[in-house]
This record gives sequence, structure tokens and C-alpha cells, in this order.
Amino acid sequence: MYSDADAAALYDLLNPWGPCDDFYLSFVMDSPSVLDVGCGTGMLLHRARAAGHRGRLCGLDPDAAALGRAARRPDVEWVHGRAQDLRREREFELAVVAGNAFQVFVADDELRAALAAVRAALRDGGRLVFGTRNPAARAWEGWRPERAAEVVDAAGRALRVVHRVESVADGVVTFTETVQTRGGEPLRIDRASLRFLDADGLRGFLRQAGFTVEACWGDWARGPLTDASENIVVLARAAAAGESL
Ligand SMILES: C[S@@+](CC[C@H](N)C(=O)[O-])C[C@H]1O[C@@H](n2cnc3c(N)ncnc32)[C@H](O)[C@@H]1O
Repeated sequence: MYSDADAAALYDLLNPWGPCDDFYLSFVMDSPSVLDVGCGTGMLLHRARAAGHRGRLCGLDPDAAALGRAARRPDVEWVHGRAQDLRREREFELAVVAGNAFQVFVADDELRAALAAVRAALRDGGRLVFGTRNPAARAWEGWRPERAAEVVDAAGRALRVVHRVESVADGVVTFTETVQTRGGEPLRIDRASLRFLDADGLRGFLRQAGFTVEACWGDWARGPLTDASENIVVLARAAAAGESL
């Protein structure tokens, strides 16, 4: 067996700090009040505080084990819950959705509700920044057992983490992640679905929620978006009521 707390710690091992995190951190450090939607284990806000951010930092996530790990740093506000259920009014200058957490909003109504709640939590003119895997790059084709990651966890267990895609339908990829011993004994299996939206689809949902898209990049260095781009990186602004979008 592999506990939720073990899985949260393993997430950090498998997802070390990278260029996407530097990208998000630059926005966070420039903003006095930040909401991190789907903050997971809290790495981004931890780093911001450690780097001298003195303003308001708030992380939101429904995964209690991940949030418990995040809460090891008490000088950040941690909120247990889903983005769709957030009820905050004009409290933040910036919202980030890092680590492809944007893709967890699979159904149209989930995504609309999440974006509406994030819009409400932002002040007029506030920014939303996120990345999402570009459907044109078909990342899920690489989620195969032969590309398993091998890792030694904090308890010294030699593990293999295996992904298997179960279905790809209407832009939604459903897959399993199995944590197993190197000998192949499964310790934990998680199933998840992620939505892959293209730039036009993203623009439509954002406009409907009251955002104007300021930039749509193809990488963390703010390069152009092409079919070969692995990610779609979006900077949007919360429009004031009545502003034409
Ligand atoms: C891939 S992780 C990204 C974590 C973190 N942002 C990072 O950069 O490493 C996706 C996160 O989205 C969270 N999540 C899932 N459903 C959510 C929802 N409805 N609202 C907010 N976060 C959600 C998960 O619990 C998970 O921590």
C-alpha cells in the first residue's frame, strides 16, 4: 500500500522545480496578493515566501494530503476545497493555475464554474496565468509503461511509476498512474481524466467568464504558440463589468 501522504511526497520527487515554475514565480513575486488554484503540495508559494514575497499568498486544493504537505509552511494561507466552490470577492491581484492543474476541469460546467469563481476572487484588472498541454502535441501518446519513471522515495523504496492511457475522447484523456515496486508489485493505482483544450477553446471559456486574453504563448520563455508547442501558456486579465471583451 502507498498512502495519500506518501503519494504527495512522491509527487514532489517526480516534479522537481523547472522552467514553468520560474515562469509562474516571476508573476507571483510581482503581485501583492496571489491565489494559487490547485496548489498541490505548495511548492510555488513556498518558494515565493522564501524568496521574500511579503504580501498575501493563498493556496487552494481539494487534496487533503497534498495540502497537508503544503501546510508545513504556516506563513501562507491554505484553503482546502475545489476552485468551483471558492467564494471570494475581489481579494486577489493574481491567480495562477500551475502544473497543468487547469486540465482537471474536464466538463464544460466544471470549467465554467471554476473560471467564474476565480474571476470573482480577482480584482478588476487582476491577472490569471496558467499553462495547459497543447492538444496538437498529443502528450498522452508518451504516457506508456515503457516510459515509466524510476525513483527512490523518501523512505528509500525503489519504485516505478507507470502511466497507461485508457481512453482519448472529445479532448479528454483518461489514464491510470500505478506506483509499483521495481519487481512489478502494484502499491497504488490512481485514475484521472484531463481535458486538452486548444487556444480557441480556451479563449471562448475565458471570454465567457469575464477575462480578456492578453497573451497566448507556446512555452515558458514566452515564445510563439505553434502546433509543435508542448504547452499553451495563457495570460488573461479580469475585465471590469461592462467592459467589451
Ligand atoms: C498536477 S497537480 C498540480 C499541482 C501544483 N499546482 C504544481 O504545480 O505542482 C493538479 C492539482 O489540481 C488539484 N485539483 C484537482 N481538482 C481540483 C479542483 N476542482 N479545484 C482545484 N484544484 C484541483 C489536484 O488536487 C492537484 O493538486
